[in-house]
Amino acid sequence: MKTKFFLPFALLIFVLLAACGSSPEPAVSASFGDATAGKAKFESTCIACHGVDAKGMPNLGKDLTTSEFVITTGDAELVAFITQGRPPFDTANTTGIDMPPKGGNPALTEDDLKNIVAYLRTLQEP
Ligand code: HEC
Repeated sequence: MKTKFFLPFALLIFVLLAACGSSPEPAVSASFGDATAGKAKFESTCIACHGVDAKGMPNLGKDLTTSEFVITTGDAELVAFITQGRPPFDTANTTGIDMPPKGGNPALTEDDLKNIVAYLRTLQEP
């Protein structure tokens, strides 16, 4: 008799736990990448246009520390964006200047880009 009652109850608990586990990840997670490694990669590629500490370079690349786009875009989406870039003919382009795919450095891996995003997160000044 007891097991008949217990089994559906156990199933209910299991389903509830499974539902909790599948809740969506927050857009910004602390463990996304290694900011120190990202800084080194940023300084080997992105710094040419986005400047020291990602403060931007006139007519080359935007300030990423105050960028509304960076602040409001999730980590994974930002990695996808950097992979693709934003050419001047893209309607989302705001300067008429090319943001090349991977900043023009095809050697950057997805992990490198994750680390760069982690680094950018440490610079944000909302
Ligand atoms: C050759 C110059 C150049 C390089 C190198 C470069 N970028 Fe860019 N980036 C740009 C330009 C120009 C824009 C602005 C595009 C526009 O007008 O919308 C931009 C835009 C961005 C944006 C969006 C900012 C916003 O507010 O819309 C991000 C994020 C970004 N770059 C990240 C990177 C990262 C990370 C790297 C290194 C992997 C990198 N960029 C390398 C030129 C560059």
